[in-house]
Amino acid sequence: MIPRFKPYLGGEEIAMLLQPLPDARVRFEAEFARTFDAKDAVAFPYGRSALWAFFKALGIEGAEVVLPAYTCDVVAHAVVLSGNIPKFVDIKLFDYNMDLDQVEDAINERTQVIIATHLFGYPLNVERLKEIVRMAEARFEHKIWVVQDCAHSFGARWHGKLVCNEGDAALFGLNISKQMTSIFGGMLTMNDPSLADRIRQWRDRHFSPAGFIKSLRRMLYLFAVYPAFNEAVYGVVHWLQEETPLLNYFTKAYHLDNKIHFPPDYLDQMLNLEAKIGLAQLQKYSEIVRRRRENAEYYVRQLQGTGNLILPPLVDGATYSHFVVRVADRKPIMRSLAQKGIQLGQLIDYSIPHMEMYKRYSDNEFANSFLSSQKTINIPIHPALTVGDREKIAASMRWACLGATPKPT
Ligand SMILES: Cc1ncc(COP(=O)(O)O)c(C=O)c1O
Repeated sequence: MIPRFKPYLGGEEIAMLLQPLPDARVRFEAEFARTFDAKDAVAFPYGRSALWAFFKALGIEGAEVVLPAYTCDVVAHAVVLSGNIPKFVDIKLFDYNMDLDQVEDAINERTQVIIATHLFGYPLNVERLKEIVRMAEARFEHKIWVVQDCAHSFGARWHGKLVCNEGDAALFGLNISKQMTSIFGGMLTMNDPSLADRIRQWRDRHFSPAGFIKSLRRMLYLFAVYPAFNEAVYGVVHWLQEETPLLNYFTKAYHLDNKIHFPPDYLDQMLNLEAKIGLAQLQKYSEIVRRRRENAEYYVRQLQGTGNLILPPLVDGATYSHFVVRVADRKPIMRSLAQKGIQLGQLIDYSIPHMEMYKRYSDNEFANSFLSSQKTINIPIHPALTVGDREKIAASMRWACLGATPKPT
């Protein structure tokens, strides 16, 4: 089965693991900052821990935090668990990013942070956002922090500028479904050295080195990931994931959709072995993005005009963490492709303010967020896809949507 995502792992990661690098985490931070043209980077066990630590280190509590209604729910969890109040805004259906007119309306005297998510690899208009923030700061006479959420958008650019450097800090998630991975892991990048020092010192006071058992568990997880994403066995792995608790043992409640919670190890320091994997992945970063762009362009060429399928846009500076289409009814399409050995995903199949635990924060409609939660499917776009895989996926999509064969390449 062709998996809906696949980490781009090879021999380089194993070679890096074999190197004695006791300071791998420090090196990973430095190399990460260098790759994304930032002055500094601070590593965490998860992206959500990084965001939570940002609030804690700066003493931001009881404040309103503006964030998209349609994003990974752990972002909202970090807001709530740090003692703040999420203020959701709806998205635009064009690129699934926040509607900036609504951001402008959502800011008030209690707003202290805006989480500017660049979803699915699409850069948000950071120039307009900066202007909105500048005006709001003047009006309310206090600082409004901007965290660029680049968990889906490593290296995304708006008008040629890296979006990660257009705020106070940028947040990255590094689990195996991301553009690049450190198995699990998160990173904050910053360009203000005093802010970086403050966050690093706070982390070092509150996060503890992880124990041997966790390292062992992560090592086993990594060695299971290599064969698990092989197309010959992925069908079985998928079944184990869906039907048994076995695989969850390795990741311990990483994601529960019905509870505002963090995994029990959210206060561990990033493991040395995770940092080593991250270091090896950084070397492949440009190749990963190049391949993703090629795959996105190919799908747009092949799938344009396919029935009621609504394709995502091709945008300058986008890095395509996911290729998300909207359809009238996703079940039959997902079933049809599964029968042909292709896994499609429902990456974000919820709208956060519509979730039971978040309903109390707003009674707005968030129509686009809700629609996206119901109608989107993500098609495999990962860099390990072969030309044959891509052709098969496009042909199967056209068949499922229209009963038609693909256009010539
Ligand atoms: C948009 C977005 N931001 C932040 C995160 C948080 O990353 P993590 O899962 O490492 O906590 C995710 C998670 O996948 C995400 O999709």
